[in-house]
Amino acid sequence: FRIAMQNAMDEMKSSGKWAKSMEILKEFEDKCATPVSKLRQVADAMTVEMHAGLASDGGSKLKMLISYVDNLPTGDESGIFYALDLGGTNFRVLRVKLGDVNNVKKEFQEVSIPPNLMIGTCAELFDFIAGELAKFVATESGDMQIPPGTQRELGFTFSFPVKQSSIAGGTLVRWTKGFNIEDAVGQDIVEELVKAMERAGLDMRVSALVNDTVGTLAGGKYSNKDVIAAVILGTGTNAAYVERANAIPKWQGLLPKSGEMVINMEWGNFRSSHLPLTEYDESLDAESLNPGEQIFEKIISGMYLGEIVRRVLLKMAVEAEFFGDTVPTKLEKPFILRTPDMSAMHHDSTPDLKVVASKLKDILEIPTTSLKMRKIIVEVCHTVANRAARLSAAGILGILKKIGRDTVKEGDENQKSVIAMDGGLFEHYTKFRIAMQNAMDELLGEEASKNLIIELSNDGSGLGAALLAASHSQYATYDES
Ligand code: GLC
Repeated sequence: FRIAMQNAMDEMKSSGKWAKSMEILKEFEDKCATPVSKLRQVADAMTVEMHAGLASDGGSKLKMLISYVDNLPTGDESGIFYALDLGGTNFRVLRVKLGDVNNVKKEFQEVSIPPNLMIGTCAELFDFIAGELAKFVATESGDMQIPPGTQRELGFTFSFPVKQSSIAGGTLVRWTKGFNIEDAVGQDIVEELVKAMERAGLDMRVSALVNDTVGTLAGGKYSNKDVIAAVILGTGTNAAYVERANAIPKWQGLLPKSGEMVINMEWGNFRSSHLPLTEYDESLDAESLNPGEQIFEKIISGMYLGEIVRRVLLKMAVEAEFFGDTVPTKLEKPFILRTPDMSAMHHDSTPDLKVVASKLKDILEIPTTSLKMRKIIVEVCHTVANRAARLSAAGILGILKKIGRDTVKEGDENQKSVIAMDGGLFEHYTKFRIAMQNAMDELLGEEASKNLIIELSNDGSGLGAALLAASHSQYATYDES
């Protein structure tokens, strides 16, 4: 009798725990809901903020930074140029030979940044970068050699918010994505790089300083004239687009000949009361290196999605004993669950969710889980990824609205709007990509969505930076006509 009684009690307890877990999941799903009506509100808010950010500095959470890129590549660029791409846990150095649009020769090297340098001093970080760059320059050979007597030139992709003072200079507004090097904030990033290159004995001219979105836009436009904007969905998220120069009230300079200017939106810092935020997002933000900032980024980008999943699972573990009587210690560790692992669990197509089981075991040291539990975990991944994907689509709609490309205009039925896209989240997280495309179709309707093309522009930003270095080269000859 005692055993039967114990069993009955255990069952009641476990069904109570189960009910509690389901309640937590349900509440999370409700808070993350992104019906089309909500996405439209987000898109409209994005458009409104774009106007405000273009009107005056500090007019909006959207910085709408002026890139000083008023001419995108034409295809006539030629010569050998360097590019440096810094913006995540890795940085890349590239050597690019321009001349033939269909055959750009590239050589590159990828180096991971020691984590201590991401939170150290400015000189340490740039000394490391200049050192790696110098090593790479020393490998020049064959038809990739710069003719003697010619100064090497570099396009620098620096994927953080920079207030530019010219095409080749600007000060760092603040760090994002886990970087925090205090003495660099407010400094001219190009000057810092040049000083470090001098210390490394490297004679190179920095001809262009660009955000990765701007580089991707330039790289995309080189091979496809219909490119109007670029979006990054990777460790961080952001967008850049081509604006009419006379639609930028805060622009004090002369109107560029082209009449256009590329704007780096820094949309990662977008925030609106329409965003579906949850308690998990709030605690993630409060405990981050940059509380109150980059809210859009914190619910969309690759750096954070896995971490949101971890927070939901942790709550289920603590409040509903989802993983048993004790809370798995590893689950308490911030950022232990990375987005690529979340993606692997989400895409698990084995009938018994083997991949989920092995990720839980390897990463969180949870030895056994029932199939029912694993299904719930997949559901959490789906909820987090789906919200992120749909909100990204809403952001893109905001841009299309701002430039009048959200509907098909009479006489322009075949005008294509191409978005150059880059970033691991979009490239590798298939379910994310599909959800985003579906949301785009829902938002635009059949006709307009036919004209919107989202094109993966793999590493467009390195190429773009080299192209912009070429068009702003000291040796460039301008066609003034
Ligand atoms: C962060 C940076 C932004 C960059 C984006 C994608 O949002 O602030 O400058 O473009 O990440 O890398």
